[in-house]
Amino acid sequence: MEKISQITTGKAKSLYTTNEPDQLIMEFRDDTSAFDGKKMEALDNKGKVNNQFNAFVMEFLASKGIETHFIKLLSNHESLVYKLEMFPIECVVRNRATGSLCKRLGIEDGLILDPPLFEFFLKDDELGDPLINDHHIESFGWATQEDADAMRDLTLEINDILVDFFKEANLILVDYKLEFGKFQGKMLLADEFTPDGCRLWDKDTLTKMDKDRFRQDLGNVIETYGEVGERLGMKIKLD
Ligand code: C5P
Repeated sequence: MEKISQITTGKAKSLYTTNEPDQLIMEFRDDTSAFDGKKMEALDNKGKVNNQFNAFVMEFLASKGIETHFIKLLSNHESLVYKLEMFPIECVVRNRATGSLCKRLGIEDGLILDPPLFEFFLKDDELGDPLINDHHIESFGWATQEDADAMRDLTLEINDILVDFFKEANLILVDYKLEFGKFQGKMLLADEFTPDGCRLWDKDTLTKMDKDRFRQDLGNVIETYGEVGERLGMKIKLD
């Protein structure tokens, strides 16, 4: 697979065209950002750890019947993915209240949410990714109602799968963000699933094992991502 030219570079990943017009190379970099890019740092080995973590989760989801953009690992820090038409939407599911939900609504941190709470956000850094609903999505043409329904249903279906997956590793899946896109008319899970985009708490101690370690300066960020990977049975290569 030939890497041709960079088409986008985000806060933590870059995308490159390839000799296959409908396939892209997704490169995970060591760059780490929080608070809409206000806190930035390069963390050694993050690109490698997150690329292989994402591959493991995407392959697990595929084994459970979830269709994703992930094709295969190309190297320790690069993956091959399908080129999608992305929706400018972030889908969040929360099993426990924390983060922006507590700030916005004054909810007690750690409150168990049963049933899980689903929220749409607009993917727009300049606006600070505001909370939106189905009506905004339809009125402004960000997706059809059918596609919005499909994204919500898939995000909740993935929640059922991943809550059990992380429970096996003695972890609570607190919340996470997913993005979707279309490939040849089909809705596929896109972007990534790594500890950068979810919250994971140790089941016994409630220790934070995700990007909150970076946001809150708790230290050992990538070592902790690696420990999560190990508990899930991953063999992450750092060479
Ligand atoms: O910030 P908030 O509490 O709304 O985040 C909910 C979940 O979505 C967290 O797991 C967070 O890491 C993830 N998220 C993300 N990217 C964003 C916004 C939220 O990965 N732009």
